[in-house]
Amino acid sequence: MAAMLLAVAGLSACTVKAKQVSNETSETETTMNEVMSLKGKKTLVAYFSWSGNTKEAAQYIAQKVGADEFEIIREKPYPTEYTPCTEDAKAEKDAGERPAIKGKVENMAQYDVVFVCVPVWWYTAPMPVYTFLEQYDLKGKTVIPFCTAYSGPSSTLKDIVKATPESDHRDGICIVTKEMGGKDMASKHGRIDKWLNEIGF
Ligand SMILES: Cc1cc2nc3c(=O)[nH]c(=O)nc-3n(C[C@H](O)[C@H](O)[C@H](O)COP(=O)(O)O)c2cc1C
Repeated sequence: MAAMLLAVAGLSACTVKAKQVSNETSETETTMNEVMSLKGKKTLVAYFSWSGNTKEAAQYIAQKVGADEFEIIREKPYPTEYTPCTEDAKAEKDAGERPAIKGKVENMAQYDVVFVCVPVWWYTAPMPVYTFLEQYDLKGKTVIPFCTAYSGPSSTLKDIVKATPESDHRDGICIVTKEMGGKDMASKHGRIDKWLNEIGF
């Protein structure tokens, strides 16, 4: 069994089917659902936030798992009014832009796990998030997507996975804020706690 566990080390979530042969040579199949623990791994929470929801959640996650934080900020600020911001974001998305972002993660190589926390913008992550993901070598790291949205994730979580093809991944979640009038992340902390536990923290 120990050898089997070693063989699956590095998989994000694994189902091990172990054949146990008894003294009478009859076989019983045991299925174990195991998530390799990420506790104690050097972790970064990278986040983008325009109106504060994702920032609040990201900081909560960082505090829960003992992670460093990095805020992804577009060099040219987005408009502070909602409608102009949506127009700016849509034009940028339609053009497939990779806008310049502020600052750099110091020594990305030190991290084993990178949470990528974003709001859903036009059914995906804001473009500066892709600038961020394409700027670093995330090969072999465990990338964990997370999003907040008014109505749903659309393809956001999958898009973050697609943008980090050489990384391992754990299942992400989307916190939907519709029923809270678009705010009140604190009421969702229980859901975040449960998810962190499920993915190995
Ligand atoms: C430019 C823009 C586009 C958005 N597009 C979507 C969307 O496609 N689907 C959705 O459910 N919510 C959408 N929203 C709502 C945000 O995802 C939601 O309010 C999120 O929690 C905001 O996170 P933040 O406070 O960290 O910026 C959009 C908001 C903005 C500003």
